[in-house]
Amino acid sequence: MSTNEGRNILVVGGACGMGAATVTALYKQGANLVVLDLNEEAMEELIEDEGLEGGPGTLHFVPGDVNDASVRQAAIDYATQEFGKLDALLYIAGVLDLMCPAHKTDDELYDYVMDVNVNSCFRMCRDCLPLLWDHEGLPASIVIVGSVGGEIGSSAGAAYITSKHAVLGLARNLAHSYRFRNVRTNVVNPGACVTDILGNAMEKWPDREIMDEEGNELYNVRGAVALGLDADGNNLTGFPEDIANAILYLISDEAHYVNGAVLDVDGGWTAF
Ligand SMILES: NC(=O)c1ccc[n+]([C@@H]2O[C@H](COP(=O)([O-])OP(=O)(O)OC[C@H]3O[C@@H](n4cnc5c(N)ncnc54)[C@H](O)[C@@H]3O)[C@@H](O)[C@H]2O)c1
Repeated sequence: MSTNEGRNILVVGGACGMGAATVTALYKQGANLVVLDLNEEAMEELIEDEGLEGGPGTLHFVPGDVNDASVRQAAIDYATQEFGKLDALLYIAGVLDLMCPAHKTDDELYDYVMDVNVNSCFRMCRDCLPLLWDHEGLPASIVIVGSVGGEIGSSAGAAYITSKHAVLGLARNLAHSYRFRNVRTNVVNPGACVTDILGNAMEKWPDREIMDEEGNELYNVRGAVALGLDADGNNLTGFPEDIANAILYLISDEAHYVNGAVLDVDGGWTAF
């Protein structure tokens, strides 16, 4: 597959989980990265643990909340000044709603999920388009990380499912609208993967007794699909690297004819 050496890429949500795996892979291929993320501590750890200093890539970290217009602008300004153009925008950041059904989803939780998963994604894509369009040679790329929850109704709570359906529509419209401006837009929809997303949500909303091990009405999630059992007898689900590989494929030259696609990386969950 083509490499990302010398490519200029803006990553939203690159400090943990799938974003961290993607940033690591891109950096090691020699990409020039601008990474926006809320979690400064995790980003520092990633840089140290993975040795993301001194090349072959470059990494500029913009700490802050993607819902803050000035933080988004700082990342875009850096890309504009240092690169002039972008080869790819990756919107990977996302937050979970603790599987909360609609009648238990108050405005605070709903807005929190929709802001990160949809509203800032829309604004980031919109505001990066001038850096992406009229790309020289093969098209520039936008990749949005959605979820199987963008295709089925049972993998999370009401706000999360709404948000992930919404970004699918956004991606398809971008794919259509900018195809003659040399920009492709695609979505990766992960199934269950081993990351801290659930732990982060539980930490953010400690007082919400939403998860219920007894499987009561508040825990409305249909079981994730496993591909078998690991050596310890645990369900084998996906890893952040599985999603990073899918993202790397979608921004590669080999995917130049892939536009408006949804790549499910879910062990077959949405197919069954
Ligand atoms: N883990 C799963 O099982 C799973 C399944 C389906 C879809 N997804 C989606 O995959 C994407 C990545 O999730 P993950 O599992 O790697 O989660 P994660 O929690 O490990 O990583 C999410 C990253 O987004 C960042 N982020 C969150 N809110 C932010 C904000 N307001 N501003 C800036 N950065 C912010 C976090 O700091 C973190 O680095 C998300 O869009 C998520 O919805 C995850």
